[in-house]
Amino acid sequence: MNVDVFTLFPEWFDWFRSQRHVSNVLATGTSLDYVNYRDYTPLSGRQVDDTPFGGGAGMVLRVDVVDSALRGHYGVDPVSLRERRRVIALSAGGRALDDELVDELAAEPALTLLCGRYEGFDERIVEHLCSDAISIGRYVLSGGELAAMVLCDAVIRKLPGALGHEDSAAEESFSAALEGHPEYPHYTRPAEYRGWAVPEVLLSGHHERIEQWRRERSRERGEGRPEDRRPGLG
Ligand SMILES: C[S@@+](CC[C@H](N)C(=O)[O-])C[C@H]1O[C@@H](n2cnc3c(N)ncnc32)[C@H](O)[C@@H]1O
Repeated sequence: MNVDVFTLFPEWFDWFRSQRHVSNVLATGTSLDYVNYRDYTPLSGRQVDDTPFGGGAGMVLRVDVVDSALRGHYGVDPVSLRERRRVIALSAGGRALDDELVDELAAEPALTLLCGRYEGFDERIVEHLCSDAISIGRYVLSGGELAAMVLCDAVIRKLPGALGHEDSAAEESFSAALEGHPEYPHYTRPAEYRGWAVPEVLLSGHHERIEQWRRERSRERGEGRPEDRRPGLG
């Protein structure tokens, strides 16, 4: 897979690229590159944004700047680019990122992620240059960089070679293996701590019963038992 991130803060991604699971995947041929909009802006003074038509606070990322950055990097008219690869605007109001969408993106050969800043994108960027607008949640971040990292992280850990054990990603919260439910609880040593005992079944060595217990706990969590809403669930 080839992932390109368009941003005003490319240096943020140096830290992300150096994380073990990311560097593992990069070593297997996946690429993660970043492009600074300012390197391609046709405007003087490396300008990338402008005041909104109709008034209001903040600045808006310009369509000509994003058009020029995409054209400069890929060497094609960006309008046709989205036929060849998913071009995704990170946007608070976009389609919610969930496990199903992550699976869909992990199956793509190439992704382009556009990070907004300030008030966000000129809408013509989303309308004419992007295939998707994706949100990582119903809250507003200062920029698309963290959202791009969240999306990349979720996608990358689905790729072969990212995790130590290939099974780790197969039976996780929301996966098909758990019928879309959250994962069951995990425990490790000590078997008892301050009087808090690990469920007996997990110490039984009885694989079928353990499997059944895990499925039931996962299903219960999916059905939203009130006791599962306490903080610190992990
Ligand atoms: C300050 S936000 C703009 C918020 C915009 N004015 C609004 O009310 O939706 C700047 C940029 O951060 C990114 N962003 C903020 N929240 C996000 C979220 N929940 N999911 C994805 N991207 C987000 C987007 O790229 C956005 O263009």
